[in-house]
Amino acid sequence: MDLSNIYKFVPKADIMALQDEMNRYYPGLLNKTGIGNNFLGWVDLPSKTDPELLRRMEEDARRLRSISEIFVVVGIGGSYLGARAVIEALGHHFYDLLDKKPFPYIIYAGHQLSEDYHAELLEILDKKEYSLVVISKSGTTTEPAIAFRILKNHLEAKYGKEGARQRIIAITDRQKGALKGLADKEGYPTYVVPDDVGGRYSVLTPVGLLPIAMAGFNIRKIIEGAVEMESLARTTNTIADNPVMTYVAGRNALYRNGKITEILVNYLPNLFFLTEWWKQLYGESEGKHGKGLFPSGVSFTTDLHSMGQYIQDGMRNIFETVLSVEKSNHTLTIPKADDDADGLNYLAGKRIGYVNHMAELGTLQAHVDGGVPNIRIQVPEISEYTLGQLIYFFELACGLSGYMLGVNPFDQPGVEAYKKNMFALLGKP
Ligand code: PA5
Repeated sequence: MDLSNIYKFVPKADIMALQDEMNRYYPGLLNKTGIGNNFLGWVDLPSKTDPELLRRMEEDARRLRSISEIFVVVGIGGSYLGARAVIEALGHHFYDLLDKKPFPYIIYAGHQLSEDYHAELLEILDKKEYSLVVISKSGTTTEPAIAFRILKNHLEAKYGKEGARQRIIAITDRQKGALKGLADKEGYPTYVVPDDVGGRYSVLTPVGLLPIAMAGFNIRKIIEGAVEMESLARTTNTIADNPVMTYVAGRNALYRNGKITEILVNYLPNLFFLTEWWKQLYGESEGKHGKGLFPSGVSFTTDLHSMGQYIQDGMRNIFETVLSVEKSNHTLTIPKADDDADGLNYLAGKRIGYVNHMAELGTLQAHVDGGVPNIRIQVPEISEYTLGQLIYFFELACGLSGYMLGVNPFDQPGVEAYKKNMFALLGKP
């Protein structure tokens, strides 16, 4: 964590002065006695993960992999973004074009209401072997419920009722909701979303872990990373040595000084959905009672050619939090050209990752000079382990930050407004 590029905008002493306030909230978060404590189950989830649960997920993943070219993940919001963030971060950029695919191709459904998307998905599924997981904590969310009804019909028409049963897994509440009733009636294998874990904090439960296991990634390493972050968060308690506190102090100090929009920046296209997950986590947790930092995101250098102008020169109410990844998984150097017609020989022999890093450093300086504070989170590499660390880190920071803002970070009453109107328009009984 590096806050040095925000001190020009908020004096370091003001940031450090947040320690007392943080000390009032942090124990309530860790001990699960703070506001919204009926939804604090995720706080010690990593260290309490049942190895038997991991084994069962790996076993189900193995079984379904052997009969599926495609695995459909049906869910929306917190019931889908975490899995997608990890799968895209770790996956091959062109997985669907690989000749030999060791694991099923993951497709998402029920995360929007596009008729064309779902119709075209059925066209593909007509010709492919597939299985699916339907994820909904409440078991009543309209988007995944519609997608699941359509896909269940499709699966039953394709494989028969018993065949479909072999290919469906449901992840939902222990006892409530239409999905729970349906799963029981049909006899689908089910996993439980713990009562005290809300959707956007559920990636380290089967909600995130089962799809990630299906995609062939090591869920034990994810939990290991999260456990390490949990233990760091429990054994340190100052802004100087606890990264959660460092981040929360930095972003809240900036917010209180008029920097109300936080842009999560990455320099790797496969982190796009990590940003989407982060946006949901923070937006739904903090945006309440007329308060909250507005979470947004960009992928550089792509977006330097679209949003770069605004960030450099537009309204000065923004700051950046950069996920700076040190190591690439591949090595690719820029070749030398005899004629140097494109004038790039000065880069010959250099790795693309090196150029990317220089773009990052150059951008950091330009944006700070242009009035955009910069928080830097340095990540050694993208792996299951570091993603586990990041997920837990961002979740805990979100809880603490919500407390500092004076909101309950674990409810989402505002999401009901559109549903109420939509149901009235649709004539829901
Ligand atoms: O974080 C949340 O609680 C929400 O984003 C939910 O995950 C989302 O609305 C989906 O809800 P459910 O899992 O009940 O279908």
